[in-house]
Amino acid sequence: MEWGNGAMLQSHCGIAPLPHSIAPLPHCPIASLQMTHIDVTHATGRYPVLVGSGLLARLDALLAEHRLVSDTIVISCPPVWRAHGPALGPVLGGYPPLLIPDGERAKALPTVAKLYEGFVSRKAERSTVVVAIGGGVVGDVAGFAAATYLRGLRVVQVPTTLLAQVDSAIGGKTGVNLAAGKNLVGAFHAPSLVVCEPAVLATLPRREFRAGLYEAIKYGVIASRPLFDQLAGSLTAIFARDVSVLTPLIGDCCRIKADVVMADEHEQGRRRILNFGHTVGHALEAISKYRRFRHGEAVGLGMLAAATLSQARGEFPQDDLEALRTVIANMGPLPATNDLKVSEALDAILLDKKVAAGTLHFVLPTHIGGTRIATDVTRKELTAALTSIGLR
Ligand SMILES: NC(=O)c1ccc[n+]([C@@H]2O[C@H](COP(=O)([O-])OP(=O)(O)OC[C@H]3O[C@@H](n4cnc5c(N)ncnc54)[C@H](O)[C@@H]3O)[C@@H](O)[C@H]2O)c1
Ligand SMILES: [Zn+2]
Repeated sequence: MEWGNGAMLQSHCGIAPLPHSIAPLPHCPIASLQMTHIDVTHATGRYPVLVGSGLLARLDALLAEHRLVSDTIVISCPPVWRAHGPALGPVLGGYPPLLIPDGERAKALPTVAKLYEGFVSRKAERSTVVVAIGGGVVGDVAGFAAATYLRGLRVVQVPTTLLAQVDSAIGGKTGVNLAAGKNLVGAFHAPSLVVCEPAVLATLPRREFRAGLYEAIKYGVIASRPLFDQLAGSLTAIFARDVSVLTPLIGDCCRIKADVVMADEHEQGRRRILNFGHTVGHALEAISKYRRFRHGEAVGLGMLAAATLSQARGEFPQDDLEALRTVIANMGPLPATNDLKVSEALDAILLDKKVAAGTLHFVLPTHIGGTRIATDVTRKELTAALTSIGLR
């Protein structure tokens, strides 16, 4: 097996109710054209998350600024390297990247084993810096390989999907899937630097882009009405990938994710609010065998279900539910759900619950900008919520 441009890995290889809200984010049109710099602190250190235009063109200088100059090993996947390698390769010293196959199937142990072989042949040392350039799959696999090789190489995350920029690149969760389930093997391994360049999203397929946008909407609902309104009011510019509009929005999402993970690095409490829309979303993905929905699309439907449930309890204003429905409808049609069974979705939710030690922690929005965790959601309420999003 060879490595390098065009070569790739051939293996084929996821209480009592607590009030949660985060202070609204200021919006400044002038500042929004500049770079956002967020410092994420964690148990053993801190790392910067940078969001801005033109960052990739000076990635080498950024690595030097952050003392990440020793030999680097770039890990990417073919679609990303085809689109951005020609510009990035020279900036990163010209070494060919280790390319892993594209897609979720590559998020598996055989890919990690191949990466270890690549590290050996590149004579990686403890000082080597892994630069992961790609979507959540590349970030998770490369992060896990870096976390475990020589008991931990430093990793720089350069996320190239909207989902990875607003979510997976921040927080230090890395890992791979097993046949038995998604993300069953993993490690917390904080990156040393995260570099988000919104311009790379220009080459992202529309469906992937839109899938990431549901996660951005999620941040608005759980933590920031201004962010939600900004997203809802600029969908045309967002879908046109207008960098001047995307940059501050991505920065705001990163700030919320950073705030939440800093409050709960190892996912014991507060980080749960990030699961808004995910209880139902994961169930939809599972019962459709992970083939129908992009993760973000399932989360879009899951957010509608959770918001409908909360509204039916009298805990989420009707106007806010309408606002959420409108923005999701304006983003375009979601995959069909009318052949999926409520009973199967309920089973999948209860299976998830078993994994989480028997208690279903359901994230309910209280208004756009705040949520609480409920542990008393009933089967009947879930049935009504699933029916409201089209299941039978
Ligand atoms: N670690 C975490 O905290 C965390 C959080 C959320 C999701 N995840 C994981 O992230 C993964 C999903 O990530 P994803 O949605 O980014 O999917 P992905 O990595 O599979 O990327 C989606 C597709 O877009 C392509 N692509 C990426 N960037 C591109 C670009 N700029 N131009 C053209 N094509 C591009 C990829 O090659 C791929 O085909 C899942 O495995 C999920 O479990 C991890
Ligand atoms: Zn998600």
